[in-house]
Amino acid sequence: MAILQFMQSGRDRVAVPTTVHCDHLVQARVGADSDLQDALNESNEVYQFLESSSRRYGMGFWRPGSGIIHQVVLEKYAFPGSLIIGTDSHTVNGGGLGSLAIGVGGADAADVMAGLPWEVRYPRIIGVKLTGSMSGWTAPKDVIIKLAYELTVSGGTNAIIEYFGPGTASISATGKGTICNMGAELGATGDVFPYDERMATYLRATGRGDLVAIAEEYVHLLQSDPEVEQQPEQFYDQIVEIDLSTLEPHVTGPHSPDRARPISELAAEVQREGFPERVSVALVGSCTNSSYEDMERCADVARQAAARGVSAASGLLVTPGSEQVRATIERDGQQAALEAIGATVLANACGPCIGQWNRPEARGTENSIVTSYNRNFPSRNDGNAGTMNFIASPELAVAMGLGGSLAFNPLTDPLVDANGNEFMLQPPTAAPEVPPTGFDPGVDMYVEPPEDGSDVDVRVDPSSNRLQVLDPWAPWDGNDFEDVPILVKTEGKTTTDSISPAGPWLRFRGHLNNLSDNMFLGANNAYTDETGTGKNQLSGEEIMPIPEIARAYSAQGIRWVAIGDENYGEGSSREHAALSPRMLGAAAIITRSFARIHESNLKKQGLLPLTFEDPSDWDRILEDDRMSLVGLSDLTPGQPVQAVLKHADGSEETLNLRHTLNDPQIAWFRAGSAMNHMKNLEGA
Ligand code: F3S
Repeated sequence: MAILQFMQSGRDRVAVPTTVHCDHLVQARVGADSDLQDALNESNEVYQFLESSSRRYGMGFWRPGSGIIHQVVLEKYAFPGSLIIGTDSHTVNGGGLGSLAIGVGGADAADVMAGLPWEVRYPRIIGVKLTGSMSGWTAPKDVIIKLAYELTVSGGTNAIIEYFGPGTASISATGKGTICNMGAELGATGDVFPYDERMATYLRATGRGDLVAIAEEYVHLLQSDPEVEQQPEQFYDQIVEIDLSTLEPHVTGPHSPDRARPISELAAEVQREGFPERVSVALVGSCTNSSYEDMERCADVARQAAARGVSAASGLLVTPGSEQVRATIERDGQQAALEAIGATVLANACGPCIGQWNRPEARGTENSIVTSYNRNFPSRNDGNAGTMNFIASPELAVAMGLGGSLAFNPLTDPLVDANGNEFMLQPPTAAPEVPPTGFDPGVDMYVEPPEDGSDVDVRVDPSSNRLQVLDPWAPWDGNDFEDVPILVKTEGKTTTDSISPAGPWLRFRGHLNNLSDNMFLGANNAYTDETGTGKNQLSGEEIMPIPEIARAYSAQGIRWVAIGDENYGEGSSREHAALSPRMLGAAAIITRSFARIHESNLKKQGLLPLTFEDPSDWDRILEDDRMSLVGLSDLTPGQPVQAVLKHADGSEETLNLRHTLNDPQIAWFRAGSAMNHMKNLEGA
């Protein structure tokens, strides 16, 4: 959708360096090769579109199987001092290499690709002071699990987390990446580590040694100033201190990444809470934890077990973060060590981390899994709400897979070897943070775009039901919106997921028309007291799906308005929640209040986001009213818009509606969208 929206801009080439990565659509079924082939077969048209549009518009294209975006970005693109935006919340992973890397919605990405400025709310800054250094079973994952416990899942909202203190340099660049990756679990806008020698090591190992001299020349800009270290309370809005030397390995979950405890407390909690004690599957890797260092520490644990004739008591799945990681651990033996205790290596893609885990045997059952991933809300991994998903470091996940039990603590509990003798796993030895003989790049799956892609055809089958090229929206015709019907009045929480539900609809996220059949299906309509239904005011038909009513109005060229409650559009930044109303004929969305990102998305699509000057006016809007929004040619920043409400009994009343449109945003409304406005400026 980001690319489809970018295409509306009419630009020939992206305005900033851009790459496209295919990692979410590969389903984990059997193992790497056949799973990847299945994905290529099932989603071929999507990949053809992504590859051809990348070539057409000057974007680098990483084919399916080349890796998970955040690992590839760490290996190829992130560098100290860079600003990166990515269409995935775990973009923050790049902070491990000193980038300010921020996850955004597709609409924001499309703006940036088209050369529009990118806006973000000015963040608070949380300082996390790290002291000491880790040893034994403690790993970088434990730093972020501990921080999630301290700050909770909303503790990073509208904040940048900045790590500082002497402990930072004791953690490898990829370990820092793991910590930053899960800043997304705290809701952080971004998180970042200061430049140090560990970053230089990783830059050199990934073929970017030339950046080291530049980073060192500008090191004063890439580390906190001395006075920050001395008096951090003067510079940070909040400070958390973690002593790495005393930090215990942690496990968090199920179902929330801040439900954490030290491993030593887990067994008692398993009994108390009745979690299924048996670990059914341990999963390691993903964008969060599949570095060379991680894989070597996992392999160390695996080798200890194999030497005593012990295999994993649970299933064991490995998701390499990139082709480079996969090829290197195959060459250096970590993969073989894990396979020797029963591991299956999956494709270099997201797979079980994003619900792409074909696991029919677990459907409807309560079971426990341990992953080294980052998210663990219900159904996240296998679509089964009964799966209790715990998160830990990869080496701890492997150890718990060997023990086969949530109550197994490798720091204190023995395993039993093939001869019936007890033995203790030793903490994994310090692993090299980069391969001693260099990375093996594996199969090259990168497609460099041509200098001039203007003769490349963007491949979208007109009969596709998954992809649809978007035409630019029509500009405003200069007239007030007169006597438009009320499509729906949502009551209570109306998230972007209520406006544009996901689940099976995700399949259509590149085909706006098909996807729009989901519009408002998750929203509670105050008029029907049902979810997703309303009344067609033209035909009088009762209780129809709301998108069908909108399509009926739109077919007759009739615009409509939707009424919303407080904080309308909260939740993820899903741009479809603005695009579908735009496609199906909305003129304005009028609410008691908006969630900021959704309000901005509506503006970008040329819609009017308006709020009641008096919130109790929400009650005045009746199902069979007609509304006129008048004086739009004089739309001015800070001045209310008047709505004339005609009730069915013939009475009229006038309401004042507020808006937050500034002058450029009013120009977006007039042009039909932000993209249209930009195109008009370029053509001028
Ligand atoms: Fe990362 Fe993919 Fe999971 S991007 S968070 S491995 S879904």
